[in-house]
Amino acid sequence: MICLDDVSLSYKGRSGEVTALAHTSLTVKQGEFAAVVGPSGCGKSTLMKLVTGLIRPTAGAVFVEGKPVKGPVKIAGMAFQNANLLPWRSVLDNVLLPLEIVPPHRGRFRREKDFYRARALDLLGVVGLRDFAGRYPWEMSGGMQQRASLCRALIHEPALLMLDEPFAALDAFTREELWVVLRDLWQRLGFTVVLVTHDLREAAFLADTVHVMSARPGRIVETRVVDFLRPRPLEVCYEPAFTDLVHELRGKIAEVRQA
Ligand SMILES: Nc1ncnc2c1ncn2[C@@H]1O[C@H](COP(=O)(O)OP(=O)(O)O)[C@@H](O)[C@H]1O
Ligand SMILES: [Mg+2]
Repeated sequence: MICLDDVSLSYKGRSGEVTALAHTSLTVKQGEFAAVVGPSGCGKSTLMKLVTGLIRPTAGAVFVEGKPVKGPVKIAGMAFQNANLLPWRSVLDNVLLPLEIVPPHRGRFRREKDFYRARALDLLGVVGLRDFAGRYPWEMSGGMQQRASLCRALIHEPALLMLDEPFAALDAFTREELWVVLRDLWQRLGFTVVLVTHDLREAAFLADTVHVMSARPGRIVETRVVDFLRPRPLEVCYEPAFTDLVHELRGKIAEVRQA
């Protein structure tokens, strides 16, 4: 699904050049849940922008579904730390928003509103917001807004879901609720995920593979397969093997922060 081949990226600014990524390689298989962890400023968001085609590499190549990325990747859905819902739109209309904008869906959406509304309501049902479809973002908690933002990212049934620290602003309990929501969405819809997070427990609970990035200029320094049985209950987070994995990842991050 994704292949980064020896990718480097430098930002050019007035104060000179910042090398965000240097010789980074990464592959993510179709249907895989990949997590990327690493110290702040190491280039995680840069990596996400490269994969979704928002920026082009300075060197190396980026492929999605086997094709070189030349512009914004249409098969991707995205969500970020802030839900960024439009305050004047209901939750349902926020979820439907991408369909009004993204060209391949725009025409169909106009003709088949009922079909897409049903799909949006179905998604809202999966994340437990079926009864809030008519509400406005400011009537909802941060966790509920983030649930809606996941539905918005998935409304066009993307093959690839790119999540950049989506739960970072939530409290610990809400965050765990959202882990379960994301787990169930992924299990049900079967898309490929790249999740950037600084929460090692989150990565270990959700992912098939955890990629650890070095400090800037970032590159993947370690890839760890997580093979806890699925479906994973939250209780897995309290098993010794889980704690060992988190501990090991923690050690790796400490190492790369010093390097
Ligand atoms: N548009 C930009 N122009 C210049 N420098 C940038 C830009 N975006 C990010 N950077 C720099 O590139 C590095 C990596 O940034 P980023 O990918 O956002 O890191 P992360 O998401 O891991 O915290 C940082 O040092 C950041 O300051
Ligand atoms: Mg970032």
